[in-house]
Amino acid sequence: MNSITLNEPFSLTNGQVIKNRLFKSAMSEQLGDKQHNPTLSLATLYQRWANGGIGLSITGNVMVDRSALGEPKNVVLDEQSNLALFSEWANAGKQNDSQIWMQLNHPGKQIPKFLCADPVAPSALSLGRGLEKSFNTPRALNDSEIHDIINKFALSAKLSKQAGFSGVQIHGAHGYLVSQFLSARHNQRDDKWGGSLENRLRFVLEVYRAIRKEVGNDFPVGIKLNSADFMKGGFTEEESMQVVQTLSDNGIDLIEISGGTYESPSMMGSKNKNEPLKASTAKREAYFMDYMEKVRKLVSTPLVVTGGFRSAQAMNEALNTSTTDFIGIARTMAVDPDFPNKLIENPNHGMPLTVPTTGKPALDKIGMVGLVWYEHQMWRIAAGKNADPKLSALGVVFKTILSAGWHAFKKRRA
Ligand SMILES: Cc1cc2nc3c(=O)[nH]c(=O)nc-3n(C[C@H](O)[C@H](O)[C@H](O)COP(=O)(O)O)c2cc1C
Repeated sequence: MNSITLNEPFSLTNGQVIKNRLFKSAMSEQLGDKQHNPTLSLATLYQRWANGGIGLSITGNVMVDRSALGEPKNVVLDEQSNLALFSEWANAGKQNDSQIWMQLNHPGKQIPKFLCADPVAPSALSLGRGLEKSFNTPRALNDSEIHDIINKFALSAKLSKQAGFSGVQIHGAHGYLVSQFLSARHNQRDDKWGGSLENRLRFVLEVYRAIRKEVGNDFPVGIKLNSADFMKGGFTEEESMQVVQTLSDNGIDLIEISGGTYESPSMMGSKNKNEPLKASTAKREAYFMDYMEKVRKLVSTPLVVTGGFRSAQAMNEALNTSTTDFIGIARTMAVDPDFPNKLIENPNHGMPLTVPTTGKPALDKIGMVGLVWYEHQMWRIAAGKNADPKLSALGVVFKTILSAGWHAFKKRRA
């Protein structure tokens, strides 16, 4: 019987070794300064995570285009950036033999109104499900703008290599620009960038190829991809598998699977907030295991599944059924940076999923309390404090309103 442990190293095809199977998935930290350079608190946060035993950390999304931020304090990496500050961040994340890869993102139309009057997207179609109140209708990108954005991804990747990051990850999930191109619901172009799946996946393929050209074969390039959007007319599981196959054929180093968009936030466990998790999903914890079983048979590219993992037992089971090579974890890392060391030391270790609530359903509804609460935990660690599992959700709401106003509670991500 196969017996892979969480502590087992993994070698990527380029020979780079990741010391264990625990993978911190991206969580947007919003710790950029006024020029959108990383603040030193990001170094404190990633050093803490490195010391807690994580094998590989993916940074929160770093924007490739200064004119297209997803959130006010996002970090941007372009020719105006201060690379020395990025190097501090990278060095901190590489302590304790850990790796840090930068997640590169362009939000497309998922930019809240207060941040951008004129967002861009593959097609001039607004977000649905009531989000049109908080997000402007985008205009469609023209061909030369598409090429500019591809070049921006490549430039950010080149600079992140120069700054000392161990790899990059393209954010191809959760409804942002790459995912908008992939989705027939959001991409209704009739040129070479839209229509057939072959055309819709051209954007991500060109982004990947442009990055690869800049960074060479020795520098790992990965992607976070949706298993599906879980929206009528959106990106399907079958299409996702074809994208996995194409990127694998083109030599991508690592594929992380998630799912959902702002319209249907299944990355957090709910395709529909009134629908409980399936019993099999509740047992295996991870939300996208059915998909992983199918995709594992298709490709030998290293795979990560993220969303839902809470216990060493479920993680070990996922590794040993060979459905995934790495275990993606996010929210647990914001509550306990030592979670990896504890999981490795104790096969019975686990942490219940904290679903923060203010106790006032209306306030929970307006607010992204579930996100803001985890952000506050990251900010505590970034300030050199401990996370506080008992942190009051109501307190967090008031603090956020005081510092950022109601904007902070308009739908930003899910
Ligand atoms: C505060 C917060 C910020 C997030 N930011 C990002 C992000 O920048 N990029 C991304 O791909 N996913 C982001 N996510 C989603 C997580 O990476 C992950 O997919 C999700 O939390 C499910 O994993 P978990 O159950 O282990 O938390 C974020 C999640 C949270 C809670």
